[in-house]
Amino acid sequence: DESLRLKALFEMATDGIITMNKYGVIENVNRAAGELFGYDPEELRGQKVNILMAEYDRTHHDEYLERYQRTNVPHIIGIGREVTGKCKDGREFPLRLAVSEVKLDGGILYTGMLHDLSSFKLAQKRVEDLN
Ligand code: HEM
Repeated sequence: DESLRLKALFEMATDGIITMNKYGVIENVNRAAGELFGYDPEELRGQKVNILMAEYDRTHHDEYLERYQRTNVPHIIGIGREVTGKCKDGREFPLRLAVSEVKLDGGILYTGMLHDLSSFKLAQKRVEDLN
């Protein structure tokens, strides 16, 4: 059945996938996203997405959402950004964030795709250190 296939796709994706509503409240988290941040995906449902961010963005993300919903000018949607994530244990790490917006009857849904850049950054630093 189609919805089971979609669920499998969501769960087996190697990048993290997080969906949230217009207030930044998390609705769904796949296994990879849970692992990235050291949470059980169930723990994250219903929490603000802000808890996954380092200090500055954590306190400003609500404003980012409000500004976008007011102006329709995107800074990440359709563009992507390298940002800093914060794990449950407090460790911070670099990641590539892509966001898209889905307008449904029930309101707006945002989907975030998160790709861990830790090992890429480490390799990049090793290359730089060679010079
Ligand atoms: C905007 C950071 C996770 C949805 C932003 C901006 C930053 C940011 C810096 C504003 C950029 C600017 O105005 O210049 C982060 C960080 C995240 C994170 C550090 C996690 C570690 C997410 C996730 C979603 C999301 C998971 C969606 C499920 C949005 C939306 C906007 C936004 C909808 C406003 C639209 C836009 O600026 O294009 N975020 N974000 N964010 N973020 Fe996040």
